[in-house]
Amino acid sequence: MKADVLLGLQWGDEGKGKIVDVIAPKYDVVARFQGGPNAGHTLEFNGLKHVLHIIPSGIFHEHIANIVGNGVVIDPIVFKEEIDALEKLGVNCIKHLFISKRAHLILPTHRLLDAASESSKGKEKIGSTLRGIGPAYMDKTGRNGLRIGDVFQSDFKKKYDFLVSKHKQLLELYDYKFELKELEDKWFAGIETILKFQAIDSEIYVNDALNNNKTVLAEGAQGSLLDIDFGSYPFVTSSNTICAGACTGLGLPPTKIGEVMGIFKAYCTRVGSGPFPTELNDATGEGIRKAGNEFGSTTGRPRRCGWMDIPALRYAVMVNGVSKLIMMKADVLSHLDTIKICTHYMYEGKKINSLPYDVANASLTPVYIDFPGWKTDLRKVTADNLPAALENYIQFIEKEVNVPVSIISVGPDRTQTLERAGIMV
Ligand code: GDP
Ligand code: IMO
Ligand code: MG
Repeated sequence: MKADVLLGLQWGDEGKGKIVDVIAPKYDVVARFQGGPNAGHTLEFNGLKHVLHIIPSGIFHEHIANIVGNGVVIDPIVFKEEIDALEKLGVNCIKHLFISKRAHLILPTHRLLDAASESSKGKEKIGSTLRGIGPAYMDKTGRNGLRIGDVFQSDFKKKYDFLVSKHKQLLELYDYKFELKELEDKWFAGIETILKFQAIDSEIYVNDALNNNKTVLAEGAQGSLLDIDFGSYPFVTSSNTICAGACTGLGLPPTKIGEVMGIFKAYCTRVGSGPFPTELNDATGEGIRKAGNEFGSTTGRPRRCGWMDIPALRYAVMVNGVSKLIMMKADVLSHLDTIKICTHYMYEGKKINSLPYDVANASLTPVYIDFPGWKTDLRKVTADNLPAALENYIQFIEKEVNVPVSIISVGPDRTQTLERAGIMV
């Protein structure tokens, strides 16, 4: 078998959590491959709304083995909070949640360093979620990090103290005042929770599963335009959010990748700083934010909203090799008479069809086509009677990026999901 991958094609928050939960019953294994508690993946079903940060979105299905892969960075404090919240809902994760021994830990001092780095940047700040993601990945690539496997070793505290002493020196350089004790106590309580779980060689687990004809779904975090290499650097996250990240973040050979399902919203959002060519700083943008409840699932920050951006989507489809598209939140645009799609940009006086290196260039101007709105309550429609205007909007996108849209999401609930005829996931 090959592993399917599901990932975001924009700046995150496309609705990955919802769709993983919806399609999870078809899979034996769901594995997160990168990111950490910067992610907030929302699931809604049976009147329940739940946000996951580190734990894979297949966790509500007991038959599924949920794996936190080696590419993920784990904050024990958040991990414990998530486990406790799930337990309250009657979900006992111990039997079907496994953590890679190679996943790196986010230390309390990583969080402090994230805050110190951001405040030192002033107006140039990334708009990080301040979850310690950047500093933790820096220690991973700098070969200083602590891993889940270390937690089970007798010299763990010694290794922890050594790294923290380095971090304290850095914090001093930043002249950053901090209080560590309370965070540290919580962190070590989180470590106790982690010790109850099975730490595994997840690359072996996942490859064995595929060799034994089990179905595997790799769940991405963030979105392709936040990728460390291909996003709008430096306004990005610190991991490879694209499909290749599923290979390195789970130990999956590229030849074992099956479908690549790319999720996008019917419009665009971005939370945090950085260029956003189609951003709407007006009443229309405000209307979309309100209709879409566009506030961060992790930080509660208002998300910036704008029109669908075809050059950006095409770029994301290209770097991921997307084979199926999933369009989310079509219902959010239902109130609009006219909906715009950016088809290309004007850049330094020339027409360009692709996302340029210098997305922040002041001369980059999106050029739009107008589409009539569908003005229909999409809760009442089925896949085979979509309003003509919505069908037209979808077909235009499919033609522009040359990949079929297989699912349309028309509301946050599991049930508000339409599979397009003939294009099943
Ligand atoms: P993720 O990070 O990609 O998992 O996405 P988030 O959970 O951060 O943000 C998506 C938000 O949109 C959540 O609040 C979802 O409940 C909600 N959502 C998902 N799909 C739809 C949809 O089709 N329509 C509407 N109105 N909301 C949706
Ligand atoms: P999910 O998985 C949206 C953004 C932050 C910031 C930048 C860097 O829910 O889609 P970081 O904390 O990684 O240092 O922040 O990336 N960001 C996200 N935006 N959804 C996410 O995850 C995000 N994770 C990080 O807002 O601009
Ligand atoms: Mg999110």
